[in-house]
Amino acid sequence: MTANVTVVSHPLVQHKLTLMREKDTSTASFRQLLREISLLLAYEVTRELPMTVKRIETPLEAMDAPMIEGKKLALISILRAGNGLLDGILELVPAARVGFIGLYRDPETLQPVQYYCKLPDHLDERISIVVDPMLATGNSSAAAVTLLKQSGARNIRFLCLLAAPEGIRHMQAVHPDVPIVTAAVDSHLNDHGYIVPGLGDAGDRMFGTK
Ligand code: URA
Repeated sequence: MTANVTVVSHPLVQHKLTLMREKDTSTASFRQLLREISLLLAYEVTRELPMTVKRIETPLEAMDAPMIEGKKLALISILRAGNGLLDGILELVPAARVGFIGLYRDPETLQPVQYYCKLPDHLDERISIVVDPMLATGNSSAAAVTLLKQSGARNIRFLCLLAAPEGIRHMQAVHPDVPIVTAAVDSHLNDHGYIVPGLGDAGDRMFGTK
């Protein structure tokens, strides 16, 4: 696999992803599966967090115990589908700071247009994890990461559920410093910018729209 891309091959992740891909999976099941899978993906994307030790007292004696170093993580959700991943990750990292970036894809050009941005402070001192279930063209994801960098973020990871090779190539061309964690890399994008075989429109499937 391409450098800086981690595909989470854990059987639970792959099994849940298959259920999510199926077109007859209900909105309720899709949402529940997304919640479960996001916990497992969060586990992977936080694997390399820097650690420190803290002197604590157990009931038996003092010890130097491991702790995650530095300021609270920043989770940055790309609206609206990013929120589906966000909920699960927040269960695992409840103290994380949360930001939102609203981008829609112009249906003609497939280019991202920003309509909302609210980010945590001190991004230069935090590790940021950008979440968006579908890394398709990579245009929105790369634009979101550019915005984050303009706001001071230096240490950024990107977490998605499905990636297209085109999206990975684009992200790596624009932001080679940003590791990507995904549950699968699919075949290609179709003419409408959808990932094939994919799972359809992630936002529509999780929110029951359309
Ligand atoms: N966004 C989606 O929700 N699905 C795709 O396949 C591509 C982009």
